[in-house]
Amino acid sequence: MARFIRIAAVEEVGEPGSVITASDGDHEYAIANIDGTYHVIDNDCIHQGGPLGLGTLNDGIIECPWHAWQFDAKTGACLTRTGTGVKCYDVKIEDGEIKIAIP
Ligand code: FES
Repeated sequence: MARFIRIAAVEEVGEPGSVITASDGDHEYAIANIDGTYHVIDNDCIHQGGPLGLGTLNDGIIECPWHAWQFDAKTGACLTRTGTGVKCYDVKIEDGEIKIAIP
C-alpha cells in the first residue's frame, strides 16, 4: 500500500496557473495548480534534466524553461516526444499540506 509524504504547503504553490519545484529532501517534484487542483510530476525534464517546476503552466501544460519541451501536468506525458514522459503522483491535500503517494 502506498504511503503519502508531504512535499509542500498549499500556500507555497500560489494561484491557479502557478507551478513550483518542491523537494522531500531526496527527490524534486513539480507541483502545478490547475484551476485550484494540485498535480505533481517529477521535476527533472527527460530531455536534459531541466527543472519543470521553474517552467510555465498554460492550459495544463508545463513547458520546460530550458528548451521548451512540453509535458501534461496531469499525467506527466511528454507532448514533444510522444510515448515518453515523467512520473506523475497521486495527490491528497491534508491540513493545508500537499502530499503524494509513494509506492
Ligand atoms: S532540459 Fe527540458 S527541454 Fe531541454
